[in-house]
Amino acid sequence: MLKLKIVMYMILVGLLCLTCTPKDTGSIKKTDVAKDTKTKLSKIDMLMSKMTLEEKIGQMNQYNGFWDATGPAPEGGDSRWKYDHLKSGLVGSVLNVTGAEAVRAMQKEAVEGSRLGIPLIFGLDVIHGHKTLTPVPLAETASWDLEAIELSARNAAIEASSRGINWTFAPMVDISRDARWGRVMEGAGEDTYLGCQIARARVKGFQGKDLKANNTIAACAKHFAGYGFAEAGMDYNTVDVGTSTLYNVILPPFKACVDEGVLTVMNSFNILNGVPATGDKFLQREVLKDRWDFQGFVISDWGSGKEMIDHGFAKDLKDVAIIATNAGSDMDMESYGNIRHLKEAVEEGKVDVKYIDDACRRILQAKEDLGLFDDPYKYCNVKREKELLYNDKHMEDALNLAKKSIVLLKNENSILPLSKKEKDLAVIGVLAGEKNSPLGNWRMGSDDNSAISVLEGLKEIGLKHKYEKGPDLIKGNTSFIHEVKINETDRTGFKEAVKLAKKSKKVVLVMGEHGYQSGEGRSRAKLGLPGLQQELLEAIHEVNPNIVLVTMSGRPLVLTWADENIPAILHAWQLGTQSGHAIAAALVGDYNPSGKIPMTFPRSVGQVPIYYNHMSSGRPGPIDLVFWRHYTDEVNAPLYPFGHGLSYTDFEYSDVTVTNNFATTGKVDVSVQLKNTGSVKGKEVVQLYIRDLVASTVRPIKELKGFELVPLEAGESKTITFDLTKEELGFFDPQGKFIFEAGEFHVFIGGSSDLKEFKKFEIQ
Ligand code: NOJ
Repeated sequence: MLKLKIVMYMILVGLLCLTCTPKDTGSIKKTDVAKDTKTKLSKIDMLMSKMTLEEKIGQMNQYNGFWDATGPAPEGGDSRWKYDHLKSGLVGSVLNVTGAEAVRAMQKEAVEGSRLGIPLIFGLDVIHGHKTLTPVPLAETASWDLEAIELSARNAAIEASSRGINWTFAPMVDISRDARWGRVMEGAGEDTYLGCQIARARVKGFQGKDLKANNTIAACAKHFAGYGFAEAGMDYNTVDVGTSTLYNVILPPFKACVDEGVLTVMNSFNILNGVPATGDKFLQREVLKDRWDFQGFVISDWGSGKEMIDHGFAKDLKDVAIIATNAGSDMDMESYGNIRHLKEAVEEGKVDVKYIDDACRRILQAKEDLGLFDDPYKYCNVKREKELLYNDKHMEDALNLAKKSIVLLKNENSILPLSKKEKDLAVIGVLAGEKNSPLGNWRMGSDDNSAISVLEGLKEIGLKHKYEKGPDLIKGNTSFIHEVKINETDRTGFKEAVKLAKKSKKVVLVMGEHGYQSGEGRSRAKLGLPGLQQELLEAIHEVNPNIVLVTMSGRPLVLTWADENIPAILHAWQLGTQSGHAIAAALVGDYNPSGKIPMTFPRSVGQVPIYYNHMSSGRPGPIDLVFWRHYTDEVNAPLYPFGHGLSYTDFEYSDVTVTNNFATTGKVDVSVQLKNTGSVKGKEVVQLYIRDLVASTVRPIKELKGFELVPLEAGESKTITFDLTKEELGFFDPQGKFIFEAGEFHVFIGGSSDLKEFKKFEIQ
């Protein structure tokens, strides 16, 4: 029956193709329509010519999974009308339905149960792995390893697609300079250049080379735009930024995704300069669809349509549908405005039908690009699902990336690496035994408590130790939707931990945030070690200062006391399924850390937002009087600068050479000699920064414009060369036009952004 229906549908489309000419879309501006790719568009036009206005609006409607699709049809309540909508062809997509069988069952309702049988697209937050969890995205970024990051997204797509998913709401490409904002864990940190490279790698990984394959999925660049600039780092808060920041910092990673062929873009909860992003015509129509010629579709964020009422921008749900659609938000996630009011709004002339046609065409085109019209069940193979979800290769890849994501923040007197024969070693801290927290915040495809803990990792490599948990970090259970309750009072286990530390030679202390302390809705005003951990750290330090502190978090932490008192700090973020294996390998030197932080670690919360590529100001100082850009009670410098990360070996930079052939070849070559002067092999992220000294709008004191991850054996040297062209040397003017201005530039090369020495070059 099903096959027959598909065949009939294909014959119908084929016949229509032969007999009809595509419908005239009228005088629609370039802003309003997806461009033709002849054959595909005509197929979609043929289908659209059969669709009623209601059915087209139905494509612009997405529901959260609303009933157990493998069970009986819902009988009442919200699930019932959503189910009726599904059968009536009034749903374009669902999210959060996973599993080959469940997706097949729901797809069947749409394909076999609705008049035109248009397949659904199934979305899910596949953010850092799926079943096999890789490090949280901020941690992955710390690897600066684009290939490994692409592979991580590729594996995630393979796993998620085997469970029926064909669309991920990733990558999140929001640049953020504010560690208080909990969602920094989901992005690539504070730098736009790095963010663009990571964004591209992730889109490539998810979408692969052939979107029609059954193991590639559509990516979604989110949150368009400005979400990472929430005032005071408070999630969902106001965003107000000028054109310089908008064009030069916030938008480029989205453009990079569009250039990489990202199929979808998600708008965002926030207002940007007074306009909610979901209702922002400038962002969605002018910038994204017109200037950038984006051909995919825009999905709202969860309920961000109806939140325009709370923002005070729309008066009711009908207004929401009108504003969002006119502004270019093509599909509504869980606001119900489109499905309830858009038809009426079109009939009343409040929304031009050309916008409905455009949105519907974009959505159908995405389904066509995914190959869903050819085979709506291609992601629904239970055998493949079973085979793929337990994948040794993915585990190994996840382990490699987890190791690469670790950052050695401090290592005085080479206390690290530990010897495998270490005697009287104590391991302390509740996070050392945690199997849940290292999974991070986005892990709905995985199983709770499935991470390898530090204790398990140490056991496997045979590092003998005694363990004391110390006080609990959290109270009760945690989940994706509930606030984490931090234990501030119950000191059970405190004394035992201090006692063990006292009689041990060295102590490995594992401390930090719980995985559910960062992520959506999880902003923090304090960035230190939460709960009783700082107190425990200080108490242990009093009895035994030989401490290796392993820190875990989804954001930069304020570790100022630890930096002043503890000889070694190894930052391990939330590293995913393989966390404990990776940390153990780094602790004993089986793996030599090479990660570099993609966000500045502040000394005090008061410094936030703190980022390396700030403007000079008119009073850069320092001077002896108070009248310069500084605090009276804190230094300007961060605790650890962007790009910082140590190794168990040493690297020496020399012979920086600038060859200015710009006039003839359009390039300035910058090269440097890098030598591994230590006794073990290692990897260094060589970073190149520029400064444009005088420009028509003020430029940052330093901007990353190139990097290379260089592996070197002990004693080995290599020359690294970077090309600087107009692309790296130019910037966006206040109108968003990319310009290049001749003049003097400084160039800095080294192993972090904290570089004082530079070479000069001038372009006439
Ligand atoms: C809200 C989040 O902001 C967004 O990033 C996510 O993709 C959606 N919820 C769907 O879960």
